[in-house]
Amino acid sequence: MEKIKLRLTRGIYVEFADREQALKRIEYWANHGMSVVHVIYGPEGCGKTAWLKQSAELLRELGFEVIYMNPIEKEFMAEVGIEDVKKRLLEILREATSESWVKAAWALIDLTRELIKAGRRRTAVLADDVFQAIGLDKAAIYVKGLLGILEYPPGDYDVAITIAATSEGISKREIGRHRWAYLDAMWNMTKEGFKQLYEQLPGPKPDFDGAWRLTGGNPKLLAQLHEVHWDTNELINELIRGRGLINLVRSLSDDERELLTKAVEDPDVLMSRDGIPLLNRLIELNLIVDNIYPRDKNLWIDQPPPERDPELGIGKFVAWQTPIHKEAVRKALTSD
Ligand SMILES: Nc1ncnc2c1ncn2[C@@H]1O[C@H](COP(=O)(O)OP(=O)(O)OP(=O)(O)O)[C@@H](O)[C@H]1O
Ligand SMILES: [Mg+2]
Repeated sequence: MEKIKLRLTRGIYVEFADREQALKRIEYWANHGMSVVHVIYGPEGCGKTAWLKQSAELLRELGFEVIYMNPIEKEFMAEVGIEDVKKRLLEILREATSESWVKAAWALIDLTRELIKAGRRRTAVLADDVFQAIGLDKAAIYVKGLLGILEYPPGDYDVAITIAATSEGISKREIGRHRWAYLDAMWNMTKEGFKQLYEQLPGPKPDFDGAWRLTGGNPKLLAQLHEVHWDTNELINELIRGRGLINLVRSLSDDERELLTKAVEDPDVLMSRDGIPLLNRLIELNLIVDNIYPRDKNLWIDQPPPERDPELGIGKFVAWQTPIHKEAVRKALTSD
């Protein structure tokens, strides 16, 4: 398989690294098909988009007609033999407004059906960040639309693949309540995989172990740290501002504040009767990922996180998205 080139940050392009198990899953689906939609969730910037784009390449090489779309990044790729499908997509996107991308996201379902109707036997639709674009409250109904491709296709097919990716903890809850999709978790890169990426980044940069401890293997964070010349504080402050962490901290009762302070050291303390409401707020703010238990291979799209790693902010049941998220909360807690 041809490894794709990806933009890591301004002027820096890297070759797709690692994620071998996740690519094997694509091969498995290419051979066996899927019976429900697969929805991939994981920390922001952990590499969902990169994997989907590499998967689009892999599927193309395996003889699939592939449509990839990301309405948030305003990107799409249609490797399809039917010109009309591509033309209609371009027609919808002619105005290139956010609304037209929402329209295109919905049209994706019909266009994939068109491919099957036209006799294409191997099709794949990769819907990236679509829920965020159409509204998280519509995530479940969108997934049902994708499921319709598998369950009520407009013609015969050999294999159809439907995958959606999201970093929004909320949308995954909505989806998990139905039988329409399997949720597969993706975690940040493994230490070995992350090393392959780190080595492609030009210096100056901290030694590898330092970069690992700061990022926990999150490739987006590696790029951002490079952009701010490894000034960790700048990113922490950015998170504090961006997520309104001072507001969060100030809104807490004394008990909750104490709980949050403990959660910086061990996020699992949030898995308690008193902790769940706070946990939900942290999920909503995209600071913590829940549902990381158990680490069974088939629940993970690539390698699962370690069982526990307090330094990286990983508990048994929940984890901070990256060590920087945890440090931002730590700093916000001491803001008086
Ligand atoms: N396996 C990989 N090899 C090389 N670069 C990668 C890999 N995974 C991610 N990257 C790079 O790291 C950055 C973040 O990855 P990506 O955008 O795929 O994350 P994401 O999980 O889709 O994020 P978001 O939650 O914001 O949608 C991108 O610049 C991407 O090109
Ligand atoms: Mg993405």
